[in-house]
Amino acid sequence: MGPTGLGITFLTLPLVVRAAAGGQWCYDSQDPQCGPSHWKELKATCGGNKQSPVNIDRRRLQRDSGLGDILFEGYDQAPPGKWRLTNNGHTVMLSLVSELASEHITISGGGLPGRYRALQLHFHWGSPAGNGSEHTLDGHQLPMELHIVHMNVKYRTLAEAKGHPNGLAVLGFFFQVSETPNTNYNTIVVGLRNVSHAGDSVDLASTFRLSTLLPRAGRLSGYYRYQGSLTTPDCSEVVVWTVFEEPVEISREQLQAFVSTLHFPPDGSTLLKMINNFRPPQPLHSRKVFASRGATASGGSLHGGHHELLSPLLLLVLLRLFSPVL
Ligand SMILES: *[C@@H]1O[C@H](CO)[C@@H](O)[C@H](O)[C@H]1NC(C)=O
Ligand SMILES: *[C@@H]1O[C@H](CO)[C@@H](O)[C@H](O)[C@H]1NC(C)=O
Ligand SMILES: [Zn+2]
Repeated sequence: MGPTGLGITFLTLPLVVRAAAGGQWCYDSQDPQCGPSHWKELKATCGGNKQSPVNIDRRRLQRDSGLGDILFEGYDQAPPGKWRLTNNGHTVMLSLVSELASEHITISGGGLPGRYRALQLHFHWGSPAGNGSEHTLDGHQLPMELHIVHMNVKYRTLAEAKGHPNGLAVLGFFFQVSETPNTNYNTIVVGLRNVSHAGDSVDLASTFRLSTLLPRAGRLSGYYRYQGSLTTPDCSEVVVWTVFEEPVEISREQLQAFVSTLHFPPDGSTLLKMINNFRPPQPLHSRKVFASRGATASGGSLHGGHHELLSPLLLLVLLRLFSPVL
């Protein structure tokens, strides 16, 4: 992509932050009057029938053997330049666009309808007492969820991407509490102290390999795929979702740093801890959640197993029936 394209990208990013910080929507933990159940009053799309997050019911998955490994490019190099960490009033967000980087960080393959460039990552978490993932697994919430937001390379701006159902691809990762700290998260966890208040930003000391934030590469072939939306207003239904089976491990102390360091925008002079910044699961309606080829066996795999076995058989039968000459 030429310098013009990059320039446009930079223009669009601050708009995202401003729209988010200036909106009247919030989470219930901030003010139940503007929480998720009211979002559809602000933006009708939030009441649509392809909303995210959803509950992933592992007994109802449909195996899609076309969902192979995702190709991660640029995930294994620390790009030149700086990454900026921001408290946007709803979450802590790391902007992954750096003016010095000539190569983009991208994902493709794995059944994604195109190639997608990484824009930013952010988190959703709970409270000292409760878990805070957005997607749920068999009705259970996990402690935290990471979202890495990517935009289809064929669109030049976020506004343009939002006009197409394949405009964005978001990767979702669950977190699980481990005994030992995940040192790969140190840069972000230490940076939280610098963005304690809404509107704060800090340039991280250095960029790093994005792959270090993910579960081991060997476990990335197991994922769930469905068509959904952004999980915050305007709730645009333009997201190809990939939620990975394997959680990222971090220590309880690292998790607590998210729960206890950050604040929502102040209401008058009252500072509120940023907690429970997740949207609850939305109805699936007529959508299906697909399991990748490498997803672990569960109720869904039974279904998939039949599917994979039956298709060639069925094909043979059909061939026999309809082309007796062959
Ligand atoms: C929170 O997540 C953990 C998994 O790390 C799980 O063991 C626990 O049951 C969850 N708690 C709730 C209330 O869902
Ligand atoms: C971040 O905060 C620490 C104290 O927690 C401070 O020493 C450091 O200078 C801050 N960094 C920036 C870039 O503001
Ligand atoms: Zn998110």
